[in-house]
Amino acid sequence: MNISVNMPPCVAFHNGHFTAEDLITKVTRSGDLAGVFYDTDAWRALPPETAIYQVEMLKSPQGEGELYAGTTHLNPGRIGDEFYMTRGHFHQRREQGEVYFGLRGTGLLLLQDEQGKARFEQVSPGSVHIIPGATAHRLINTGTEVLSALAVWPTIAGHDYAALAQGFALRVVLQGGKIHGKEVQNG
Ligand code: F6R
Ligand code: MN
Repeated sequence: MNISVNMPPCVAFHNGHFTAEDLITKVTRSGDLAGVFYDTDAWRALPPETAIYQVEMLKSPQGEGELYAGTTHLNPGRIGDEFYMTRGHFHQRREQGEVYFGLRGTGLLLLQDEQGKARFEQVSPGSVHIIPGATAHRLINTGTEVLSALAVWPTIAGHDYAALAQGFALRVVLQGGKIHGKEVQNG
């Protein structure tokens, strides 16, 4: 009996790029990130079309039980002394978690609960990050190459950016040549 085998999409684990028929890509530029970096003068000085990160993800069916897979490619760089980072979000559906896998580059995953308590996990090739429900998450590139992280999350999770309008409780800056975590009072 002949068996019929479908070819699934593929992800290259050394850089996180997908080979697939249906790929969605979205570039986030510095001009999209008003109010995210604390040094507003340095942010204004950067051309707004500067690409900060790109997400490529597979198209997925929508609904309870369905999953997305996607890679975030976060460029290296700083705005002022603050490392490039993603906007960061809670999931709209707070109970929904997510898994991140570090693939390339080095950085930090900033996690923050609804009480404002924040912590970091080191992201590097092979690292596995279980993001629980009700936990905001942001990637920060503290290295000199692109930071790529693969993520798997429920299609019903959604994004709630507004709940973090005040920003995260911790920022990551380069100070005296060292990577430094800074506590922030008002974002
Ligand atoms: C999905 C997820 C990632 C991020 C991506 C960009 O739930 O966590 O795919 O969406 O890293 O970050 P944001 O969405 O914060 O701009
Ligand atoms: Mn998420």
